[in-house]
Amino acid sequence: MNARMAAFRERLGGFAFGGDYNPEQWDPAVWKEDVELMRRAGVNLVTVGVFAWASLEPSPGEFTFGWLDDVLDLLHAAGISVDLATPTTAPPVWLSHGHPDVLPVMEDGETFGFGNRLHFDPTSPRYRSHAVRIADRLASRYSQHPALAMWHISNEYGPTSYGPHAAAAFRVWLRRRYADLDALNDAWYTRFWGQRYTDWEQVAPPEVPRSWSNPARRLDFKRFISDALLECFIAERDAVRRYRDDIPILTNFMRFYRHADYWRWAPHEDAAALDIYPDPGRPGSHVSAALNFDLMRSLRGEPWVLMEQAASAVSQWKVNNVKRPGRMRLGSYQAIAHGADSVLFFQWRAGRGGHERFHSAMLPHSGPAARTFLEVAALGNELPLIAAVAGAPSSADVAVLFDWDAWWGLEVTHGLPRNDFDYTAIVESAYRPLFEAHYAVDLVSFGSDLSRYRILVVPNAYLVDDGFVAAVEEFAAAGGTVVVSFFSGVVDVNNQVRQPAYPGAFRRLIGAYIDEYWPAREGETFEVEFADGTTAIADWWQESLHPETATVLGTYTTGDLAGRPALIRNDHGSGCVVYIGTRLEPAALRDTLLSAVRAAGAAPVVEGAPPYVEAARRDRYLFLLNHSDARAATVTVPGPGRDLLTGAAVTDAVDLPPLGVAVVELS
Ligand code: GLA
Repeated sequence: MNARMAAFRERLGGFAFGGDYNPEQWDPAVWKEDVELMRRAGVNLVTVGVFAWASLEPSPGEFTFGWLDDVLDLLHAAGISVDLATPTTAPPVWLSHGHPDVLPVMEDGETFGFGNRLHFDPTSPRYRSHAVRIADRLASRYSQHPALAMWHISNEYGPTSYGPHAAAAFRVWLRRRYADLDALNDAWYTRFWGQRYTDWEQVAPPEVPRSWSNPARRLDFKRFISDALLECFIAERDAVRRYRDDIPILTNFMRFYRHADYWRWAPHEDAAALDIYPDPGRPGSHVSAALNFDLMRSLRGEPWVLMEQAASAVSQWKVNNVKRPGRMRLGSYQAIAHGADSVLFFQWRAGRGGHERFHSAMLPHSGPAARTFLEVAALGNELPLIAAVAGAPSSADVAVLFDWDAWWGLEVTHGLPRNDFDYTAIVESAYRPLFEAHYAVDLVSFGSDLSRYRILVVPNAYLVDDGFVAAVEEFAAAGGTVVVSFFSGVVDVNNQVRQPAYPGAFRRLIGAYIDEYWPAREGETFEVEFADGTTAIADWWQESLHPETATVLGTYTTGDLAGRPALIRNDHGSGCVVYIGTRLEPAALRDTLLSAVRAAGAAPVVEGAPPYVEAARRDRYLFLLNHSDARAATVTVPGPGRDLLTGAAVTDAVDLPPLGVAVVELS
């Protein structure tokens, strides 16, 4: 466990509760009311200054820290700690007006101008030096302030740039990766369409694809931008750390975010932190949320920080539905169940103007009598009941691969047998049945240690690196169970097909080769018959599978591939591998996965609970969460204990009303 985070938790006496606080938008008279209401709501941490650069440095070198001094003093006097942000996600207008080269150049060559946020080019040396300078000034002024409990570096790192700075930095990155141009030409397979480079200066970011562009070049550009953004974080982190070493330093991640490989980022942070906005209007969004929570916990194998969520509606979608009464509480406990040690919101007080004026807040426009505030305050005052849970670890028997390289390989490049793969949706379709059957799941990447799991699920990993291939073979040889789904193991890290037959990386593992990928025609479905005579429907994708050492689990009975295997099973060392070569209907995918999970000896958190009840454990604390608005449930628990929220003794079962939560400390 990270020592800085352990000290942070101790300082807060358990969970952090609060949110983004933007006092620069309000009169000082309002600050007093804010602090009073924060205390009423049980707030113990606020994130200050995320967008405050223009209020802190209104013109170059003119600093106006006075108001921030007052805010920090006021918060400290009220016993509220501060997560102080470096404001570098929103550079002031004087910077971009005076120096347009700090602005990002978009893929189409247009400059992304001032007037929004995230208007910075992460590869601009001028932007970076200004960002480090303001971070340094903040740290030199506030690192010893008694309110300071955490640093929040920038906000949701994201922008990509394709301009001249990016081109220069991309070349530096490529030279580091390939050392010489021949290696780059090989990796990018530039013999195709005569794309061979003869001078480093000829190499540039991939512009908007007017027709079709080199898939290895696009893939490397993705990796490069993620690293460039990470360099921005590290530069600011190091600038503030110089003044004080014991304060945790984080930035906030965004779910499955395309432009940053969080596996590479997480080791550089003191904890993973997540901003998440499950759509209250979309049934099942709690499953995607759980998957993202599990990713956050898995990134460092530690508790993490829920940095932002909405108290009710957001303002960025076509229709912004509210969270019905009880939903915000349920979602907050869900994050904690999956390892969060905080419940933080965007934002404390709803703004009067600006793009997010209708975004919900802990304190809505209608003030402290509003439903949202009452629910927020009730939660803030309830959380201390489970303070002992903060810091508690989680464990899982089941691992699911989620790797950015696998994602980028599949989605940033065109020219696949079909070009509508949705990697995150395919991962979620494998995760959902495990979630609904109450198995704890960790996410893993190519570099993860697999030895602690009983079963590994590899959904649609088109691109895999050699290290991962070796690790999976070793895992299976040592007795692990592996389930691999279609179009996996096809290419290497350079997006080049592994020869001599598909799926090059996993042929030995699955005990079969594929001689042709066979995407379905529009609307086409096929029947698959299993060994026990049951049948299921599949669609979207088929493969012409040829077992070598594998045995057949299911066979197509209709369509072009009638009579050929759809699912196979192979023994590998003392382990077993199941390969699914098509998109099975959900019930059949569920049955296939669950029978592999059971055969692997993985244990669910609880037995026999309905799928709308979620069960998760942190050490001896059992979380039961009823996601149904309408149905109650009775859940059998694995042993006696006490519900920390009600104080009631639990013998063998817990009754959950609709949207109900129980946190049982098992004895
Ligand atoms: C993100 C940002 C916040 C705010 C919210 C709105 O998470 O970090 O500043 O814009 O989205 O949902």
